[in-house]
Amino acid sequence: MFSHKTIEKNIGLLIVLTFILVSVGGLVQIVPLFFQKSTTQPVPDLKPYTALQLTGRDVYVREGCYVCHSQMIRPFRAETERYGHFSVAGESVYDRPFQWGSKRTGPDLARVGGRYSDQWHYVHLMNPRDVVPESNMPSYHWLADAPADAADIQAKMRTLNIVGTGYTEDEIANATKELEGKTEMDAMIAYLQVLGIHPPKDY
Ligand code: HEC
Repeated sequence: MFSHKTIEKNIGLLIVLTFILVSVGGLVQIVPLFFQKSTTQPVPDLKPYTALQLTGRDVYVREGCYVCHSQMIRPFRAETERYGHFSVAGESVYDRPFQWGSKRTGPDLARVGGRYSDQWHYVHLMNPRDVVPESNMPSYHWLADAPADAADIQAKMRTLNIVGTGYTEDEIANATKELEGKTEMDAMIAYLQVLGIHPPKDY
């Protein structure tokens, strides 16, 4: 007889059945997210990162900016008053991997785009204390001397197309040229300036 007692007394069977139960529960929660419009469709006006912004994003990941900065405004008054509209999934569809995070030594950057001028970002990244005297953010001055890496930008864009980003052949063809003469600093600033500039309107 396949009773409750049989299961409880047979540890192997209990483990197998528990595993099946948890998997089904997990899949029921996770799988629909891959098909829901609100999690798979970009918010209106959101564009894939340009070659320059994409390069900046890779520098952001390389330098570990996420160690101190989240990109996820939670739906709490204290956050929305400070940073703006809370983040929605449709804003992250072109972020692979996403940079949500939870560690905030510095402020959330999900909507930092357009908050400061390019010049401000330049000075801030060269030496944060020149604009925010009490800052403990490190200086990233070397970005200004490092040329933006164009070697694999086209391959990167093609790879992102495999997962559905949708770069056109023209955009890919012009990518190397777009990076010509640019530094990693230019790329980083271009990236920061588009973060969260299309907040959702339908809430
Ligand atoms: C050790 C932690 C730390 C790291 C690493 C760090 N930051 Fe910061 N960041 C801070 C702190 C603290 C502030 C707030 C003071 C200031 O503005 O400098 C800040 C502020 C900022 C701001 C201004 C945000 C605003 O809304 O005022 C930007 C933009 C920024 N950081 C970008 C970056 C980038 C890009 C990187 C990676 C290259 C980075 N940070 C790495 C700690 C950090």
